Amino acid sequence: MGSSVSSRLLAKVADRSARIGVIGQGYVGLPLALVFAESGFQVTGFDVDATKIDAINRGQSYIRHIGPERVAKAVAAKKLAGSTDFDQLAGCDAIFICVPTPLGMHREPDNSYIHRTTEQIAARLRAGQLVVLESTTYPGTTNEEVLPILAAKGLGTPGDFLLAFSPEREDPGNPQFSTRNTPKLVGGVNPESTEVAAAFYAAAVERVIPLSNARVAESAKLLENIFRSVNIALVNELKMTFDRMGIDVWEVIEAAKSKPFGFMPFYPGPGLGGHCIPLDPFYLSWKAAEYGVWTRFIELAGDINTSMPHYVINKVIEALNDESKALKGSRVLVLGLAYKADIDDDRESPSYEIIELLQARGAIVSYCDPHLPVARKGRRHDIGMRSVPCTPEGFAGFDAVVVSTAHKEFKNPALYGRVSLVIDSRNLMAGLPKAGPRVVKA
Ligand SMILES: NC(=O)c1ccc[n+]([C@@H]2O[C@H](COP(=O)([O-])OP(=O)(O)OC[C@H]3O[C@@H](n4cnc5c(N)ncnc54)[C@H](O)[C@@H]3O)[C@@H](O)[C@H]2O)c1
Repeated sequence: MGSSVSSRLLAKVADRSARIGVIGQGYVGLPLALVFAESGFQVTGFDVDATKIDAINRGQSYIRHIGPERVAKAVAAKKLAGSTDFDQLAGCDAIFICVPTPLGMHREPDNSYIHRTTEQIAARLRAGQLVVLESTTYPGTTNEEVLPILAAKGLGTPGDFLLAFSPEREDPGNPQFSTRNTPKLVGGVNPESTEVAAAFYAAAVERVIPLSNARVAESAKLLENIFRSVNIALVNELKMTFDRMGIDVWEVIEAAKSKPFGFMPFYPGPGLGGHCIPLDPFYLSWKAAEYGVWTRFIELAGDINTSMPHYVINKVIEALNDESKALKGSRVLVLGLAYKADIDDDRESPSYEIIELLQARGAIVSYCDPHLPVARKGRRHDIGMRSVPCTPEGFAGFDAVVVSTAHKEFKNPALYGRVSLVIDSRNLMAGLPKAGPRVVKA
C-alpha cells in the first residue's frame, strides 16, 4: 500500500497536479508557497492571521524583501491563494508546516504551535497525503510528537500517509541565496516519506539532499544554528578581551580573514537577534537533558551573547562619565530596532533590551529605524515608541547615540553633524570621516 501512496504522489509531482498547502505564511512559509507556485503547483497558503491572508489574496507582500510583484503574479495566475479555512487542508496532497517555534518564559521549547497545527491536519487527514514539518525544533519532534497526533485517527505511515522533516534555511534579505537556490535537507520517518518529500522539493528548488531519517534533518538545522551562536559568542568574548588590552577586535578580524583556509569571520555585536540563533540552540539543550547530557557550549554561548546588551550599557555609562554626565536624565538615541542591517525583522532584537536597560537606569530614550517607523509589540517587549526621523535634525539634541543596527541609512556622515558622542556596537562609524562625533566602540 505504501508504494501506491508514493507512486500516486510522485506522478502528481511530475505533472504538477499535486495541490500544496503551506501552513504559516511568515518569513518562511510565504517564500516556500511562492517557489511551489512558481514551479507550476497550485498552492494554498494557510494562516490564522487574516491580515496576511487578505494581503496575499490582494496580491500584496507584507515582507519587505519579498517583492509584491511575485505575490501578485502568482495570485493572478491562480497558482497561489491564501486561506484561513483549515477545512481546505483536506484537498491538499502535500502539507508543509511553517509555524513559529519560540521559547517559553524559562527558555523551554514551545512546540504548542506545531502541536496545534498538527491537530488541525489530523482532524482532516486522509489517505494519500504527505505532511512535512519545516519549523526548527529538537530531534525527535517529527517521530515522537507529530507522528502520534497524525496516527491517532487510525491512519498509518507509509501505508496511508507520509511524513518528513525538512529544515527551513531562510536568510532574510540575502541577495545571493533564496529559497530556490539554498540546498534543501529532507529526512522522512520512513524511506517512502523521504523519497516523496524530496521529489516535491526537487520540483521547486535547485538542490535536494535526502537524509536517512527525520532526526538527522532536525539535528542538522540545530548544528547550523549552534555553530553560529557559539562562534558569535567567541568573537563577543574576544571583543571584550581585546578592548581591555587596547586592541581593536574589528581590525583583528579583518587581519585574520585574509587567511584563505581554515578561518571564517564572525562579527561581534550588541547581542543576538532574529527568530533562530538566539532560540534554537536551547531546543537541543532542553532535549539533551532527557538523555542526561549537559550541552555546555550552548549554555556558555547563550550566557555570553545574552550579556552583550549589558556590556553596551556599561560602555554608554563610561562614555557619559568621561563627559561628567550621568546616564540618569541623559537623552539617548538608539540606532536600529531590526536585529540585523537593512531588514525590517525586529524579533528578539537586542535593541529592545538595550532601550529597556537604558530606561531602567533613568535615561530618556528614543530610537531611529527607517525600516520600523513604529515599534511593534513583541512577546517580551512593548516599548510603545515611534522612530525619530533619520535626518540631522532627528539626530540632534541627544547626549549619546548608540549604534545597535548597521542599516545603510545610518552610514551618511551628514546625519552626525549635531551629534557629539556615538557608542558603536557595529563598527559602523569606522567607514565615516574621522572629523565627527567622539566614537566609543562597544
Ligand atoms: N525567519 C527566518 O529567517 C527563519 C530561518 C530559519 C528557520 N526559521 C524557522 O521557521 C519557522 C517559522 O518561522 P517564521 O520566521 O516564518 O515565523 P513567522 O512568525 O514569520 O511566521 C509564522 C506564521 O505562522 C502563523 N501561525 C501561527 N500559528 C499558526 C497556526 N496555528 N496555524 C497557522 N498559522 C499559524 C503566524 O500568524 C505567522 O504568520 C520557525 O520554526 C523558525 O524557527 C525561520
